[in-house]
Amino acid sequence: MAPMGPRVAVIEDDASIRRLLVRILEAEGYGTIAVGDGDAGLRAIHEHQPDLVILDLSLPRIDGHELIRRLRADPRTVALPVIVLTGHTASADMIAALDAGADDFVAKPFQQLELLARLRSAWRMRQVTLKMEDAHAIVVALVNAVEAKDVDLKDHCRNLAFRAARLGAYVGLRDQELDEVAFGALLHDIGKIALPEAILHKPGPLTEDEIREMRLHPVIGERIIGPLRIARDFSPIIRHHHERWDGRGYPDGLAGEAIPLGARIVAIADAFDAIVRGRVYRAARTLDEAIEELRRHSGSQFDPGLIPLFIDEIERVGSGTPPPVELPSVARLAVAVPIRPDPVPARPRP
Ligand SMILES: [Fe+2]
Repeated sequence: MAPMGPRVAVIEDDASIRRLLVRILEAEGYGTIAVGDGDAGLRAIHEHQPDLVILDLSLPRIDGHELIRRLRADPRTVALPVIVLTGHTASADMIAALDAGADDFVAKPFQQLELLARLRSAWRMRQVTLKMEDAHAIVVALVNAVEAKDVDLKDHCRNLAFRAARLGAYVGLRDQELDEVAFGALLHDIGKIALPEAILHKPGPLTEDEIREMRLHPVIGERIIGPLRIARDFSPIIRHHHERWDGRGYPDGLAGEAIPLGARIVAIADAFDAIVRGRVYRAARTLDEAIEELRRHSGSQFDPGLIPLFIDEIERVGSGTPPPVELPSVARLAVAVPIRPDPVPARPRP
């Protein structure tokens, strides 16, 4: 019967050590794939997709350092845990392997208990990162769904997440607070999934009933993402992204700083992206026109403290100035997957 534990790729050129490692691992319930050189190791990893790697540094063909570098450069193996076996624990070898992306070391000759403890620890870390990747993948799937439903939103949520995270970073948000802005921006219009296409794609003005229905999308969005545990912190952004600084927005008519900061940031980035990209019913306008419009509505629709900072950031993005901190990965998503044919061209609303 196949072992149930995680699978370990053992890449070690010394046949007796390789056999010993396999025996120890299999006795503990791990599955194993054992190979004797770097080239075969790389092929085995891609073919069998192990959960962990034990790697000797001095290998024929491709050496251990190069192998780690190649794993880290490939999105499929960027997070695969690699434990390095080395006889030179104090040497520049170790530093080079760490720099290349090794996760941990075991000195040769290795102690069985230590090796197993390090494997367990690497496996625990891997499970945590897998859970995070799952949560990330769910969010991306939801973004794909909403962008597929509404042609106006194609790439919009991703652009907006980038702009909103830039502004968030600029005003000093960090770590979890910055993540919340990026997630909230990405999913701000998720509630539009529940709206009829006839309203979303209507080229002419909406009737009063249709406007009422359209205005439900922040509340519907909050309910849609409610079951996601990671959504607890950013659901206020989804609910309040159409509030206005002067209190005349919806759904709750909040005003000024009673509107969560993340929602005030997303409202500005949302408007900006809509202006420069255009809508089904309105042609795109230039960057200068967009900035002019943001300034015109500063203090009525938008937080007047944030508008100048957002405009600063537009210029800094334009000139290639990096943000003060690295943006959350959800703010750096690639462009949307092509789900639908190209959107219908912008038509003037009659
Ligand atoms: Fe919206």
